[in-house]
Amino acid sequence: MLPKMIISAELKNLLDDAVHSELYASNLYKHLANQVQRLGYLGVQKFFLRESATELEHYQLHANFQNDVGTVAEVPAIEAMTESIKSLSDAMELAYDTEMELYNNYKKWYAKAASDPAVQQFLLQFIEFQRTSVGEYGDLLSRIQLVDQDKAGMLLIDQELGA
Ligand SMILES: [Fe+2]
Repeated sequence: MLPKMIISAELKNLLDDAVHSELYASNLYKHLANQVQRLGYLGVQKFFLRESATELEHYQLHANFQNDVGTVAEVPAIEAMTESIKSLSDAMELAYDTEMELYNNYKKWYAKAASDPAVQQFLLQFIEFQRTSVGEYGDLLSRIQLVDQDKAGMLLIDQELGA
């Protein structure tokens, strides 16, 4: 016999939405890596490729959790990336907005999972991941603002992020 699902169908759907978000973020960072590569920010390109890989680790945490609770994570279609990126600021602002939205979604999903402590406990780590990401991208946006498009300053940030 196959193990039976020990979470509610409603929470399973909610977790599949989170799976979509993690895969979407991974693809978004691949898109941003490609776009900043074209702009000449090769350090930032590396940074976004690492970010993309981290999102896939988050996805895998979800797949493993769903397996643990007797179900299977859906692997959804991911919409095409179309955002035009004309500067480093464009890329960082889009990353910041995406992480912030996911931070808010995880808090909402956590609240909705109040009936199941195991799901809530699992989701809690993602609130921490998101809080850290929002903080990190906020700092990066501040540093970009600080150099105010000065080319040498932007290249310094590029080097830092590539290290
Ligand atoms: Fe993530």
